[in-house]
Amino acid sequence: KAGLKYFGSATDSPGQRERAGLEASYAKYDEIMWKSDEFGQTTPTNGQKWLFVEPAPGIFNYTEGEIVASKAKKHGKHLRCHALVWHSQLAPWVETTEWTKETLRAAIVRHITKVAGHWKGRCYAWDVVNEALNEDGTWRESVFYKVLGEEYITLAFKTAAKVDPHAKLYYNDYNLELPGAKVEGAKRIVKMLQKQRVKIDGMGLQAHLVAEWGSPADIDRHIEVMRGFGSLGVEVALTELDVRLQTPYNTTNLALQKRSYKNIVGACVQVKECIGVTIWDFYDPFSWVPYVFPGEGAPLLWFEDFTTHPAYDGVVEAL
Ligand code: XIL
Repeated sequence: KAGLKYFGSATDSPGQRERAGLEASYAKYDEIMWKSDEFGQTTPTNGQKWLFVEPAPGIFNYTEGEIVASKAKKHGKHLRCHALVWHSQLAPWVETTEWTKETLRAAIVRHITKVAGHWKGRCYAWDVVNEALNEDGTWRESVFYKVLGEEYITLAFKTAAKVDPHAKLYYNDYNLELPGAKVEGAKRIVKMLQKQRVKIDGMGLQAHLVAEWGSPADIDRHIEVMRGFGSLGVEVALTELDVRLQTPYNTTNLALQKRSYKNIVGACVQVKECIGVTIWDFYDPFSWVPYVFPGEGAPLLWFEDFTTHPAYDGVVEAL
């Protein structure tokens, strides 16, 4: 579609769907996700996160992530891999261990070596570091930052580059879709790694947007940000796109949602460095939004009854 390498959707292993209590929908869901040509790419929503892949020190479990990764292969979808070093959905032991710099460095190296090693050659891209920044562009006080300072970022990228030299290595964060202090912070990360001659290939804009906050002029500001990253010599991707709205939804906010999708996907299409778009699942009942933002929901492109949102047409118009 258009100049993009892919338009994809994150998806989870069936465990997540059981929690949502929607067993009857499996067949239709799978048909859209895997058998149709709606999506050319996928990302495992949860299965590659530290909590699941290294639940205890040195004990690795790839089952959940592998379910999605192997289906991607079977159905010919590109795979983005997510996420190696992140403060959230981290195994509790990482936060309770009394680290020295040396022992934490070793734990990060082991984690990345095993996990990126397991999926070596299968990931178009890896989110190597996720959400390292505060909104004002300063460093987030994660366990990694508290013990090691910004060198944890260097170490993570260096290790990933060694383990899977062909994967595109991304820094990934939210609220990078409009110009501001956080975007400047993200540029600082790219420049820091480049100065250290450490490989970074891409900037992931999660793009968790809010329909009611959008404006018609957003497309220009999205383009400005994407070009800004592109001019540093990295590619850009929308990695977790969703546009939440106040629920119950109505025709007014569904129209705003359509505009937001059209603006951000349209911006990506217009910027040559923006190579792909991933929505953070496609089916509203499987979205994370209602769990994290009470009173908001319906952020994806398919309603519960499997009809499509007006925003689906917005995306098609943008591509
Ligand atoms: C979310 C998943 O969608 C949920 O299922 C899970 O419970 C929490 O994480 N930023 C990220 C994603 O990088 O991994 C998060 O995904 C959403 C925010």
